[in-house]
Amino acid sequence: MSQERTLVIVKPDSIQRGLTGEIISRLEQRGLKIVAAKMMQVSRDLASRHYAMHEGKPFYAGLIDYIASSPVLVLVLEGKNAIQLVRNTVGATNPVNSAPGTIRGDLAVETGRNLIHASDSPESAAIEVANFFKDAELHSYERATDRWISE
Ligand code: RTP
Ligand code: MG
Repeated sequence: MSQERTLVIVKPDSIQRGLTGEIISRLEQRGLKIVAAKMMQVSRDLASRHYAMHEGKPFYAGLIDYIASSPVLVLVLEGKNAIQLVRNTVGATNPVNSAPGTIRGDLAVETGRNLIHASDSPESAAIEVANFFKDAELHSYERATDRWISE
């Protein structure tokens, strides 16, 4: 079984709009295991490391302002194919194109306020998890339901 870990940031607009529970609930109900979680104010330094691949793009300054504007909730989710599975549940970057049933497709209207970040590849997931969490903050544990979620 290819167990993966992926980084999720419940962005400032989600916290401000009271959507934290709704968003985590959708990911948890999918069957993913929460292995780390914390609330934090993202510094501009951490924001620029996290979004380094977007430096120089027209939306970069606004993106850093947005992610550092108010506290966020950061989680690591684990499961078989967790990276793609979470991306699919999150929906397309621009909510205009996000399918109904996805988090962005149901709850957001524009790219600059798209509620949630999710890692997009195993390589970026590894870097992003390490940017936000120490190894000791990542919890490995069994759930009684695991065998009812994955065979
Ligand atoms: P994320 O990294 O936050 O999970 O989002 P994503 O993979 O779906 O999209 P990405 O291309 O990585 O863009 C990162 C974030 O930058 C903002 N953005 N604004 N105005 C624009 O054209 C634009 N494009 C991207 C969004 O907040 C997007 O989530
Ligand atoms: Mg991205």
